[in-house]
Amino acid sequence: MHDNTTRQKKESLSLAQWIEFNQRSDERGLLTAIEENIHVPFNIKRVYYLYGTLSDVRRGFHAHKELRQILICVSGSCMIRLDDGITEEEVKLFEPHRGIFVDKMIWREMYDFSKDCVLLVLASDVYREEDYIRDYEDFFQMVMQ
Ligand code: TYD
Repeated sequence: MHDNTTRQKKESLSLAQWIEFNQRSDERGLLTAIEENIHVPFNIKRVYYLYGTLSDVRRGFHAHKELRQILICVSGSCMIRLDDGITEEEVKLFEPHRGIFVDKMIWREMYDFSKDCVLLVLASDVYREEDYIRDYEDFFQMVMQ
């Protein structure tokens, strides 16, 4: 990895930015609604979800040049590791009414998926492979520029 002198070149805020969604509860159960630009800070152009992930799988391993996302574990649980090139943070996602905002230029890895994990992702853009940074060294160089 990188030594601390290099990693402390820039100031960093807390990486894990949680978004709390409303839960509507009645005798039938619970409901959470999410609207673009109201509950999340962008237009939602894409929704995708990861499920049936094997527990020993680690996935992600990329950052995005522009894409912003909200990750919500609507069932089960998983861990996410966030890294902005300076700070690293690992958090557990396990609540359907709480999402984590992952801004552009954040390296992410997901792991420890429970068998029943459904990880819902709301994304600010359609899938564009050219927006991905899949090499950590490239990511680190871009952050330090
Ligand atoms: P991949 O980027 O490898 O997922 P991870 O988040 O674990 O890095 O995506 C897996 C496959 O799905 C890959 O072939 C690209 C494709 N894919 C889409 O077609 N659309 C999407 O919105 C996403 C996220 C992936």
